Formats: sequence, C-alpha cells, structure tokens
Amino acid sequence: MTVHFIGAGPGAPDLLTLRGRDLIAACPVCLYAGSLVPEAVLEHCPAGAQIVNTAPMDLDAIMAEIARAHEAGHDVARLHSGDLSVWSAMGEQIRRLDALGIPYTVTPGVPSFAAAAAALGSELTLPGVAQSVVLTRTPGRASSMPEGETLTNFAATGATLAIHLSVQNLATVVSDLTPAYGADCPVAVVFRASWPDERIHSATLSTVEATLPEGITRTALILVGHALGATKFTESRLYAAGYDRRYRPQSADSPWSDWQPADD
Ligand SMILES: C[S@@+](CC[C@H](N)C(=O)[O-])C[C@H]1O[C@@H](n2cnc3c(N)ncnc32)[C@H](O)[C@@H]1O
Repeated sequence: MTVHFIGAGPGAPDLLTLRGRDLIAACPVCLYAGSLVPEAVLEHCPAGAQIVNTAPMDLDAIMAEIARAHEAGHDVARLHSGDLSVWSAMGEQIRRLDALGIPYTVTPGVPSFAAAAAALGSELTLPGVAQSVVLTRTPGRASSMPEGETLTNFAATGATLAIHLSVQNLATVVSDLTPAYGADCPVAVVFRASWPDERIHSATLSTVEATLPEGITRTALILVGHALGATKFTESRLYAAGYDRRYRPQSADSPWSDWQPADD
C-alpha cells in the first residue's frame, strides 16, 4: 500500500500530469483537498472509489483515514491543488507517514502561478525587465510570515511577484509595493485560473483596489511586476541571429562547431 501525493493542478481536470491522472485512476481511495480541488478532477477516480473531502477534517482525522486504507491494503491518491511544493501541507503529512512507516510517492502538478500566467498570455521573466519570480503570500489567520519575508523586501528586487492567499489583503499589497514598483506598475488578479468561471482583472497598483470586481475572493492570485503586459523589452540573445551557441554554431571556429550532431 502506498500514499500517492498528486499535484491536482489549478482546477481544469485536463491540467493534470498523465502520471497523476493514471495514479488517481488506479487508487481505490482518494482523499482530496476540497476547498481548492474541484470535483471535476475526481472524474478520473475509478468507479466505486472511496472519495473523501478532507477540507473539513483535521490532520489526525486525515491520518486516521490513511491508516484505515493502509490496514486494508488500499492505495491512496492524495490530491492537493496546484503543485505540492508550495502551500500544500504535504510536509506535515509526510512527516507522520515516515513515523508510521507508510510508503508514499510525490507527483508534481501545474502550479496556480503558471496557470494564471497562461491565462494572461504572459511570460513573467522578460529580458531586461524581470528575471526572477517570487512565489509568496501575506500573513493569514493561520500563518504568520518568517521575519525578512516581507513584501517590501521582495519589492526591493523588482522581481515579478506571484502573491498567493492574499486577495483579502489587497490594500496591504498595494501600500507595501507602490513605493518600489510605482503606482503605474501593472497588476493582474486572476480568479480561478483554468476553472470554467475564470476571471482576469488587469489594473495598476493605483487602480486595482477600487476596480476589483465583486466576487473575486479566495481562489485568486495577484501578479505584480513590470513584466506584465510589457512590450518594450529586448529580445533574448538565445534566438538572436548572430548568437554563437551549441545548437547553432556561427563558424568553424566556434567552440560549439564540433559539438553539433552530424545529421543536424
Ligand atoms: C493553499 S494555496 C495552494 C497553492 C498551490 N499548491 C499551487 O501550486 O498553486 C492556495 C492559493 O493558491 C492560489 N490558487 C490556487 N489555485 C488557483 C487558481 N486556479 N487560480 C488562481 N489562484 C489559485 C490562490 O492564491 C489560493 O489562495
């Protein structure tokens, strides 16, 4: 028996990895974080699967459910939204599984920041504008932030910020970021990226609060940075015509010239 942690992606049931889909289809038990994983993803479960929404459960109850499956010899698909590497609570479950000697695997998923960027049709790293993306959040009722991980500190870098779990703190986001990014800096709030009711609100730091439509709550990501919607950026050297590189050596003297595969 194995617990398979699976990144369930941002919401659309076809934004799972093939491995994730196949594992869900092979597990007779599925525990899913129902506050963010939509029921459409559960369509991949086999007929007759035991499906448990863990949103109303505490960690002890979730572990008891896993222990019952373990005793019965049933593999478990454990679904969390997006990817498991950020804000999934996988770490605390794995620590308990290790203590109990229950085996597990981890299958990554499409993170919400990537789905939000796709919805916008935006690259978050543009040459000369931003070359880093910071995945962060603001403090919430259940989670404080470690000292140093403040929005003002991240703002000092000028990186593109993908701010999770924070649409209810929009006023703080705006006031913390405006001094470094400027009032005209683009902001996009993407609600339920990839869900059927996905909504995109594009604004600037000075306008986003006053113009945010009703109903954009909870499952929303705030993207901030000058890379959003930018058109004045330099082209990357990678595809520049004269750029000497391994796959496109420019002369017989190129350090890459003897590297290129003969049939290319
Ligand atoms: C508990 S965190 C989970 C993050 C997830 N593990 C990931 O990889 O994106 C939940 C937050 O992620 C963001 N989020 C998750 N799914 C989203 C979606 N489909 N559209 C927009 N934001 C989403 C929201 O900021 C939400 O408050």
